[in-house]
Amino acid sequence: MRDTKTIPILDTAGCAGFGAGAATCRWKCGSQCAYPAPNPTPGDTFAGVLRRFAGRRALLKSAAAAGVALVAAGAATGPVRAETGGAGVQGPGPTLDFQPITLNTEDRITVPPGYTSRPLIRWGDPLFDDAPPFNPDFQTATAQARQFGYNNDSIGFFALPVAERALLVVNHEYTNPELMFPGYDDANPTAEQVDLELAAHGISVVEIVRTRGEWSYVASSRSNRRMTAETPITITGPAAGHPWLQTSEDSSGTAVRGMLNNCSAGKTPWGTVLTCEENFNQYFANTDAMPDSDPRKTVHTRLGLPGGASERKWERFHKRFDLAREPNEPFRFGWVVEIDPYDPSSTARKRTALGRFKHEAASIVVAPDGRAGVYMGDDERFDYVYKFVTAGRVNVSDRTANRDLLDSGTLYVARFHDDGTGDWIPLVHGRGPLTEANGFTSQADVLIRTRLAADAAGATKMDRPEDIEVNPVNRRVYMAMTNNTRRTAAQVDAANPRANNRDGHIIELAENGDDATATHFTWSIFMLCGEPESETSYFAGYAKTGLQPISSPDNLIFDRAGNLWIFTDGQPGTIKKNDAVFAVAVEGPERGNLKPFLSGVPGAETAAGDLSDDNEALFVSIQHPAEGRTANNPVSTFPDGTNVPRPSVVVAWKTGLGSKVIGT
Ligand code: FEO
Ligand code: CA
Ligand code: CA
Repeated sequence: MRDTKTIPILDTAGCAGFGAGAATCRWKCGSQCAYPAPNPTPGDTFAGVLRRFAGRRALLKSAAAAGVALVAAGAATGPVRAETGGAGVQGPGPTLDFQPITLNTEDRITVPPGYTSRPLIRWGDPLFDDAPPFNPDFQTATAQARQFGYNNDSIGFFALPVAERALLVVNHEYTNPELMFPGYDDANPTAEQVDLELAAHGISVVEIVRTRGEWSYVASSRSNRRMTAETPITITGPAAGHPWLQTSEDSSGTAVRGMLNNCSAGKTPWGTVLTCEENFNQYFANTDAMPDSDPRKTVHTRLGLPGGASERKWERFHKRFDLAREPNEPFRFGWVVEIDPYDPSSTARKRTALGRFKHEAASIVVAPDGRAGVYMGDDERFDYVYKFVTAGRVNVSDRTANRDLLDSGTLYVARFHDDGTGDWIPLVHGRGPLTEANGFTSQADVLIRTRLAADAAGATKMDRPEDIEVNPVNRRVYMAMTNNTRRTAAQVDAANPRANNRDGHIIELAENGDDATATHFTWSIFMLCGEPESETSYFAGYAKTGLQPISSPDNLIFDRAGNLWIFTDGQPGTIKKNDAVFAVAVEGPERGNLKPFLSGVPGAETAAGDLSDDNEALFVSIQHPAEGRTANNPVSTFPDGTNVPRPSVVVAWKTGLGSKVIGT
């Protein structure tokens, strides 16, 4: 049973919150790193092979891009888009020639010379005519449900058919009550505070408009939408209706209230967003109330649900968070949720075919035969990388025809071999070890117990897989492994080559035939993050002299030239600098020349971002500013200079002469 009073905080070294205080650990993931990793099966360990990856790069020289060119339809109901990222793909373009910023610890956003930035929208900003302006001294759940939520994470830019207008779809991952409520009593949250926090989770869909080169948000747009931890959502796919998904509130097992811990996300070619439930475990309490003989308890434990009270104590006010009363409620979380941002009245769907784990993000790419592959990380030490391949093909001329595409297909988990090859292992009921004899009763069962199925399949245990993105130019797949200080020397393998991996790394993967439906791949390590002076850091072979450090890569995006943009989560605790956004070329002589572009503020994570389709604006989530302190003594007063810091989306753009494209 977890005793929330005796969390061994120092064991979180290398985790996001270390150094900034334990608040990130506590609220973001329920202090997961303070406990043994919940993957108890033996690791597929190899001898230390730190440098063996270097010669493997040749394996990644694969055929030229063979993607399916989808034509952007641009219909009023939303476009069917080309490729993954939304930004129009132009192929290798100008090099990244901005002057890098100097990483720092200042309480302001830093961008390179010739650029400027400003907050676009902040926690509490009203989205609707009936929403009050933000007032930290008079907050209500009703108001919060009509205002921009807390701790913005993933950002998706969705073009509108009207010039200079777009939608931003923004996740609200979690809440920091000690920063939201001045004088917050940790031991005695009030019902109103808890309800307000429920309303501060979820997503916002916000219309934005560009006027004279500057983006701003439209406060009363009919396109705006808030979804919270209470919004009705439909559960679809093979696990929908399974007895374990049924509760006293919903005997059908198909209708759930809300989303929790929406971390990163992806944009589908048909103009929907795939938002991902990550550390949902922390919201539930009292696994210990279930008998050990209950097979559901094993699943809850594998996902790290607390044995006793939750740190948030929501179970005091809402019985669905108390496993003593609702042992099935957690099974309704931990999914990928598909939302149509172009239809504010649409019902979101939890797509169970994509598996259930701590979903970090879901990045989708169309294969040569028209099927779609969705890459997903499970952000836990020693957990796995997944891919889902649809059974059907993407319909490029009718976006509504793709409505149920993600309900049928094959879920795979990755096995990385030490020789630079790898396999996608299907998690299909009846195949391999996933049989009745081994206790797997159906495909629904496999999906609800995805981690256990992947354990049985012999997947490779990774160093916290976070965002995974497909480069729209070279077609390779890039995977951020944030860190894992628990990996020992005896547990290193070629894909996770460092013991005590404080700074994380990025893997570069090439599907056979550059085909997202392939079941075999080759891979190499693109970057071993850390101090350039460290002999264990590696910046894709680029001479490291003069470069600045990077730590804990988290979210990734690509610009239309195929350059990689990296958003970090954890630099204050490792390299003692604010988290930052970096850009790096992945091709040519500049490959590996890592350049910091934007620095966040103290206590904050530069959690995620997106580029406008013309690449002339970069939107960045400044998440949990001042985390580690309280609203009574904040380490940051971003963005307003007040004692209640506000997570915000900032926008950066170029003010200098010449091309307005970010990074050029
Ligand atoms: Fe929500 Fe794994 O970051
Ligand atoms: Ca993340
Ligand atoms: Ca991303």
